[in-house]
Amino acid sequence: MKKRIAIFASGSGSNAQKIMEHFKHSKVGEVVLVLSNNMDAYVLQRADNFEIPSHIFDRQELYHTDEVLHLLQRLNVDLIALAGFLWKVPDNLLKAYPNQILNIHPALLPKFGGKGMYGSHVHKAVLEAKEEESGITIHFVNENYDEGEVIHQSKFKIEPEDTVEMLQFKVQQLEHNYFPKVIESILKKM
Ligand code: GAR
Repeated sequence: MKKRIAIFASGSGSNAQKIMEHFKHSKVGEVVLVLSNNMDAYVLQRADNFEIPSHIFDRQELYHTDEVLHLLQRLNVDLIALAGFLWKVPDNLLKAYPNQILNIHPALLPKFGGKGMYGSHVHKAVLEAKEEESGITIHFVNENYDEGEVIHQSKFKIEPEDTVEMLQFKVQQLEHNYFPKVIESILKKM
């Protein structure tokens, strides 16, 4: 039986796109739902293009009701992928999906993680710290931002001429390549 994936995303959703593409014809898993806190997020259009249903929630619904949890349970979701999701995952989801929630972060954790560290803020901080390398981290999600067990990291060397935009591009290439594959490897172990 195929494992069932839900994707949480707050923005463009280019990672969500790669995951939906990867699992479109997979025997291992399928994307059954895309969820967002942002009704203007382009990821919703992407989900629509794949004819995958989506659900938008607000803070009240996510943090003060079990509606999102019940929706995931009704759809028999096995694994949650956070693909550029900028809110904290609530306790009810963490309890219901232990080691079944994966996040992708655009830097080499444990450095450059935590609240407010997303998108270009991360790359700016990496450049300011004069790091020699950057990369991506895929990890299980726990109750603290960016602190769960690391599943995968890939890196590249930072060149002297690299800008925030160039880091963003290099990171995105790695994310698009690895996130779907890492999700698949986790699904195979479930
Ligand atoms: C990705 O680079 C992801 O690593 C990052 O948001 C971007 C989403 O891009 N996530 C974080 O910064 C989480 N702290 P996308 O919407 O094009 O997939």
